[in-house]
Amino acid sequence: MGSRTNKATHRYQAPKGTRDFDPDAMAVRRHIQGAWHRASIDHGFDEVDGPTFEHLDLYTVKSGDEIVSELFSFRRAGGDVDYALRPEFTPTLARMIAARGASLPIPVKWFSIPTLFRAERPQRGRLREHVQWNVDVVGSGGPVFDAEVITTAIDGLARLGLTPEQVQVKISHRQVVASLLSSLGVSDSDVPKAFQLIDHRDRIPPDVFATKANEIGLSPDQMTLFDQIVQAAQSIGGGDQNLPDVPGLPKESLGAFEEIRDELVARDADAWCHFDLGIVRGLAYYTGLVFEIHETSGAERAVAGGGRYDKLVELFGGPSMPACGFGMGDVVLGLVLEDNGLIEPSKLKPQPDVFLISDGSALAESTLISLAAELRRQGLHVRYSYKSTRNVGKLLGEAGKANARKALILGSELEAGQITVKDLDAGTQNEIALSDLSSIL
Ligand code: HAM
Repeated sequence: MGSRTNKATHRYQAPKGTRDFDPDAMAVRRHIQGAWHRASIDHGFDEVDGPTFEHLDLYTVKSGDEIVSELFSFRRAGGDVDYALRPEFTPTLARMIAARGASLPIPVKWFSIPTLFRAERPQRGRLREHVQWNVDVVGSGGPVFDAEVITTAIDGLARLGLTPEQVQVKISHRQVVASLLSSLGVSDSDVPKAFQLIDHRDRIPPDVFATKANEIGLSPDQMTLFDQIVQAAQSIGGGDQNLPDVPGLPKESLGAFEEIRDELVARDADAWCHFDLGIVRGLAYYTGLVFEIHETSGAERAVAGGGRYDKLVELFGGPSMPACGFGMGDVVLGLVLEDNGLIEPSKLKPQPDVFLISDGSALAESTLISLAAELRRQGLHVRYSYKSTRNVGKLLGEAGKANARKALILGSELEAGQITVKDLDAGTQNEIALSDLSSIL
């Protein structure tokens, strides 16, 4: 029965590659999702979602072998239809858009924050369940929309405190890399294999890589040449107004880079971006521009990946619609935020507006309950102690631990309709009439 239970204690364990979210972890998750949500809305995207499982063939058509090998697939007991838990959102989005087709206002600008499932080997940055921010523009193509999508990703990261020194968008173009590979002797039919090989490069031993490269017509010398061209192409961008002449890089491909660079400059996003032809992406449906976001130090895996997939909606029976988008996962992003000291769970939890303290008298006790109810009805975050102590000093300590803004102390002055308000941030305190409370909160 695998590792479901630990027989000695009979305690159940969470399945491998999943996470439990305690209050601190949940506060971090809400913080990340809040930034994603606000960045999407501010850039004019509407939120959508779909089912957590789909027909299996939605993924076997065009996502590529790698993701198919990682599916959690199943049949209903007694049923004969194959389903899979969603490993990504893009096929669902393409299916939803194909079904609505021409009735949608163009461009379609949608975002979603789905939970996804991949039966990967759990490791740092890779789990079997993760939450992924998806941002996509469908129906309008071109560098304006590529740049809009990239800028939205950057804005999400900036809202979490990250800077261009800490994370970088690596931009590439599949057609440019394809023509580069064919100029080195890779046949058109082997280009998809070459993309997969380049995508896995950092994850496979050099000798395995060399053997596989050889199989598709890339000798070690040609691979060295490929690397030199990729290196030289990294000088494109960086704010330079004139694109350099990169020996070996097909001339016509520079136009695509020039256009996207201009759009990024116009949005003041160029400092976050550079070109890197070593990026090709693993998913099979990308057709043009592709990009990944990485921690500059290279310490973690990709935070996000995306690109243009102009044929997917048509493939799912819809009209021909260009499309571009990205997915950003919460697992790697959480690690990158931790690496850069940008996560403090205690500061991310919702801060109580008030903490009510009673001195234990009958009047204070009954007032505490009715006052808490009234303040909560007014929309305030109210907490109080469930401990039996009526030691005001101890209860103030509890209010401080809860990170409350104000403590309201209900004591003997209540008989005269007065209460004490302590500002826990400033450390000041004063007595006010209970009837004036609403106005000061
Ligand atoms: P992807 O590159 O497979 O793209 O995933 C995007 C991001 O999701 C990755 O960079 C990573 O941060 C996160 N991620 C993926 N798999 C895992 C995992 N097993 N554990 C933790 N994090 C993970 C896509 O999924 C495309 N559908 C993105 C897209 C949207 N392209 C166009 N629109």
